[in-house]
Amino acid sequence: MVSYKELGLVNTRAMFAKAVKGGYAIPAFNFNNMEQLQAIVQAAAETKSPVILQISKGARNYANQTLLRYMAEGAVQYAKELGWRRPQIVLHLDHGDSYELCKSCIQMGFSSVMIDGSSLPYDENVALTKKVVRYAHRYDVTVEAELGVLAGVEDEVSAEESHYTKPEEVIDFVTKTGCDSLAISIGTSHGAYKFKPEQCTRDPKTGKLVPPPLAFDVLKQIEKKLPGFPIVLHGSSSVPQEYVDYINAHGGKLPDAVGIPEEQLRKASKSAVCKINIDSDSRLAMTAAVRKVFFEKPGEFDPRKYLGPARDEMVKLYKHKIINVLGSDGHAK
Ligand code: G3H
Ligand code: 13P
Ligand code: ZN
Repeated sequence: MVSYKELGLVNTRAMFAKAVKGGYAIPAFNFNNMEQLQAIVQAAAETKSPVILQISKGARNYANQTLLRYMAEGAVQYAKELGWRRPQIVLHLDHGDSYELCKSCIQMGFSSVMIDGSSLPYDENVALTKKVVRYAHRYDVTVEAELGVLAGVEDEVSAEESHYTKPEEVIDFVTKTGCDSLAISIGTSHGAYKFKPEQCTRDPKTGKLVPPPLAFDVLKQIEKKLPGFPIVLHGSSSVPQEYVDYINAHGGKLPDAVGIPEEQLRKASKSAVCKINIDSDSRLAMTAAVRKVFFEKPGEFDPRKYLGPARDEMVKLYKHKIINVLGSDGHAK
């Protein structure tokens, strides 16, 4: 058993309490490789922003959970080397799907886990979440749970609405499970295709797709039921059009990719939403930068010459999110 505290990591408790009070949100960035991790740590260190490094099932399959966990340990030392004296870094399991997995991550030094029982019947979600919380709290590890199902692009708008978190369930769920934060469904979804074109309107000037707004009324009702309780938004990439356009113009094919407009995330960050998950935007930044090198320098074959620019682009993106969207800069001095 390795305690995250020995690794210099922190859990989310104090971080979230400060963020809810301060009207900003903590960035939760997924990482799968060294370049993403370096970019996240550099951006957080340069802006003095608390940060959550999150590892998904896909990341574990791709890069190996043990290796990723040691990389996260290295990240704390790297942050210090970059001049961040007291780094506030959380190592978080994203979308944990079983008690055993959460337990193994906790034993390995994760400071926070998500148990995602959102696709289970309500009572089973409660029972599973409660079991994880009981184990995690023994080690002062914080637990994120989920209630409501994030919409998939194949859903009709009406079906999506029926998957929104039900405000009338949240008090019962949080009380029974003892979870530390709650991921809710208010219209965000994973990936680069968050809405079908027919769910959007078109900006008459640019011809670009404009997605429907998030269900802020549902968020408001949840906040009223759980005053000050930390709320999490998954699926919060904005799918920057400049990356999509560049990729499409240089051999890629991402037709009608659309995300959550940044002004909506800015508004959410000022509410009880205190953790915002972003993965797809980093993938787009990386892909656009790599395509640029391949297009401009077809003779290049040293991975450092295209992964380096990709890393630089991700640093730019992460700093932009921290400073201009979530407002978490300067909160981990
Ligand atoms: O929740 C979804 C994250 O973007 C992780 O995706 O399972 O492909 O790593 P992944
Ligand atoms: P995006 O696909 O919108 O980046 O969402 C990531 C996420 O929610 C990870 O859990
Ligand atoms: Zn997610």
